[in-house]
Amino acid sequence: MAESVCPWWAGYLLASPIRKLMQDPEKLLHPHVKPGMRALDAGCAMGFFSLPMARLAGTSGRVVCVDLQEKMINSLKRRATRAGLVGRMEFRVCSPGSLMIDDLAGSIDFALAFAVVHETPDPGKFFAEIGNAVRKGGHLLLAEPAGHVSADAFQKTLSLARNSGFHTGELPAVWKSYSCVLIKD
Ligand SMILES: C[S@@+](CC[C@H](N)C(=O)[O-])C[C@H]1O[C@@H](n2cnc3c(N)ncnc32)[C@H](O)[C@@H]1O
Repeated sequence: MAESVCPWWAGYLLASPIRKLMQDPEKLLHPHVKPGMRALDAGCAMGFFSLPMARLAGTSGRVVCVDLQEKMINSLKRRATRAGLVGRMEFRVCSPGSLMIDDLAGSIDFALAFAVVHETPDPGKFFAEIGNAVRKGGHLLLAEPAGHVSADAFQKTLSLARNSGFHTGELPAVWKSYSCVLIKD
């Protein structure tokens, strides 16, 4: 299932404002992220979703941003500082085989995994770690790029998520992606 990891310089393309015309982060996140919430952006890259997430979480909220690539995280830190959001964000470089978020157990209200699962070497472990971090009733928004992932592979990904204690909710329309909201049992 795992493909190669997207190169660090692609982070600039992913964070382009033009992408908002096709995938509007505020519109996608607004139903899930409310002021004061604790959110997780797993595979955040340079923060196309993390910065709007931090705005929606407000001054009393917190967004934990995790990525495998230090260059992605360093660029996100600079962008968060410029946006005046750094105080409500936390930045972590993880290892390929683990998000290293055991300390977040049961504390996350909303998690995002956007275009990342197909790059991970062990999606089952990825979901197990997110499942451990998200509180009961919390949401995980999962999206995978249709250009890289088949409909069948996405169904297999969903069953891995269900094995980690989520049930499937609505299927939001996301441009050129398979997507699903998963709710923690
Ligand atoms: C295609 S990008 C998507 C980034 C972001 N979610 C977005 O939609 O703009 C995938 C990101 O996931 C990260 N990644 C890949 N494998 C990972 C892993 N095992 N753990 C954490 N991050 C990973 C990559 O470094 C890259 O920044």
